[in-house]
Amino acid sequence: MSAKFYGRIIQSKQDDYNTPLEGWKDILQYIPKDTELWLPFYNDGSAKDVLGDLGYKNVYHEKRNFYDYDHDGLVIDNPPYYDKVKIIKKLYERGKPFSLLLPMETIERQYFSKYTKDFQLIIPVKRYNYVESGTKTSPFKSCWFCWRMQKYLKTNDNLIFLKKKKSEHSIEKKKK
Ligand SMILES: C[S@@+](CC[C@H](N)C(=O)[O-])C[C@H]1O[C@@H](n2cnc3c(N)ncnc32)[C@H](O)[C@@H]1O
Repeated sequence: MSAKFYGRIIQSKQDDYNTPLEGWKDILQYIPKDTELWLPFYNDGSAKDVLGDLGYKNVYHEKRNFYDYDHDGLVIDNPPYYDKVKIIKKLYERGKPFSLLLPMETIERQYFSKYTKDFQLIIPVKRYNYVESGTKTSPFKSCWFCWRMQKYLKTNDNLIFLKKKKSEHSIEKKKK
């Protein structure tokens, strides 16, 4: 598609949610701050500011159609789910390492079996509360689907279970 792109392709309301801060922190803890990042999926563009506030200043995040161009930055983003099969295929064909935030059930899909080599899954402690979703927690669990990211994750483990942060432990204790 080469027509003017407005940042959103609305196929489903589910695709226009921004990634919550905790989601970004869960993946960015592995990424050095000077890494050049490419966030191809625009929505309202606020992700660039969120990453900037976290110290990532080298972020390419523009209102462009993902299929119309390529960029050298490391792909870390929350793609539109309706199109995830095509998006993964494109990145894979280009040999581009990626971390994509996707529903956990993606792992059970047959098409995904092609990508299991060099694949790692980062499993957050809880379900993310998507910005604008208006619900307390998402009805599904999302995970970071990583391909060829061993250099950043500093392990070859396929499953990386994130641990509760100290502050979460103390909140739970107080509730009891
Ligand atoms: C889940 S949102 C993520 C927004 C932001 N990157 C974040 O993580 O907070 C995905 C966005 O990608 C947009 N989108 C859909 N198809 C696209 C395409 N071909 N190129 C770029 N963006 C697209 C959707 O309309 C939606 O706004």
